[in-house]
Amino acid sequence: MRTPYYQYDLGILEETLKAIRRNTAGHPDWHVHYAIKANANPLLLKLINEYGLGIDCVSGGEIQTALDNGFPASSIVFAGVGKADWEIDMALKAGILCFNVESEAEMDVIAERCSALGTTAHIALRVNPDVDAHTHANITTGKAENKFGIEIPMLMPIIRKARQNPCFRFEGLHFHIGSQILDMEPYRLLCRKVNELQDQLEEEGVKINSINVGGGLGIDYENPEDNPVPDFDGWFNIFRDGLRLRPGQQLHFEPGRAVVAQCGRLITKVLYVKQGTIKKFAIVDAGFTELIRPALYGAHHKIVNLTSNGPLMKYDVVGPICESSDIFGKDELLPEVHRGDLIALMSAGAYGETMSSCYNCRPLPPAVTL
Ligand code: LLP
Repeated sequence: MRTPYYQYDLGILEETLKAIRRNTAGHPDWHVHYAIKANANPLLLKLINEYGLGIDCVSGGEIQTALDNGFPASSIVFAGVGKADWEIDMALKAGILCFNVESEAEMDVIAERCSALGTTAHIALRVNPDVDAHTHANITTGKAENKFGIEIPMLMPIIRKARQNPCFRFEGLHFHIGSQILDMEPYRLLCRKVNELQDQLEEEGVKINSINVGGGLGIDYENPEDNPVPDFDGWFNIFRDGLRLRPGQQLHFEPGRAVVAQCGRLITKVLYVKQGTIKKFAIVDAGFTELIRPALYGAHHKIVNLTSNGPLMKYDVVGPICESSDIFGKDELLPEVHRGDLIALMSAGAYGETMSSCYNCRPLPPAVTL
């Protein structure tokens, strides 16, 4: 098989989906929408669909992909700060479950498009709860300085406006505080904020049908073999114990990374071993075109030499792209590396394939399943 390529272990994906099902089975009002931005490979989507998850989308392309892969429109929620008119039209025509509206200006445009198409929309307002997720700055979304959602002090007039407009059915509130969150404290804080907000809204006579707490559950990048299934038990428990839901209220979740990250790895071949004066480089045939997370977020994916059991030596593992940031790991201890060795970049099932690019006119990587 030509390298580099993505390899997905459907067994691990299935274990993960079972963990989700185990947690949600007794809760008919809980709905899990997989954040398709993490991985839109049809081989994975098929299994995710079989386990009854819905989809969280942030673009018209993602909505189309979800529909093409058999997800019912009634399972699709649509977020994003910059929904284009054609994307709104497409979602309205498909009849998606809910728009997660991120600004008053967007709400006005959705109303306009509803009138133009003679239809109505279910909407929730995305709230910026000003909760610090203590994660990488580029993947924090719930702070006042971030572009996402509507800040709490500005919320009430927008809710009133939504409820007055006959184009809309106002469903409730949406939150998403960030990504790769391993410390559960920010989620506890989110629950407290949601509870406070609900109490306030109730005083104002506003009925909330649904609460969406977003995604963000993190995974173990350093020890993927020990922790192939993320801590869904802990995560769902926080909301079960922390939220004061009203009878009949729906609770929605949008995990992305936690569903697919550990089932995927990027397989790459060593092209050259280059000895410098102070460094030894293992130059592989994958670069940030296939996996951009290290270059973009300083993320580290565990690196495994699949074909050597020689003595451990230190290498900088680098790609072929003509940019200094094209590095997967510095001073990695690996069994002696030779030209032709196969290397696995672990935990690459989320935000790997979907974020790959054609920079340097490189082809997009293929994918296989185990
Ligand atoms: N819901 C909304 C509204 C989102 O914006 C996101 C992710 C999710 C759900 C799913 O979050 P997750 O469960 O996957 O953390 N490319 C970055 C992550 C960007 C996440 C963007 N939003 C990375 O590779 O770390």
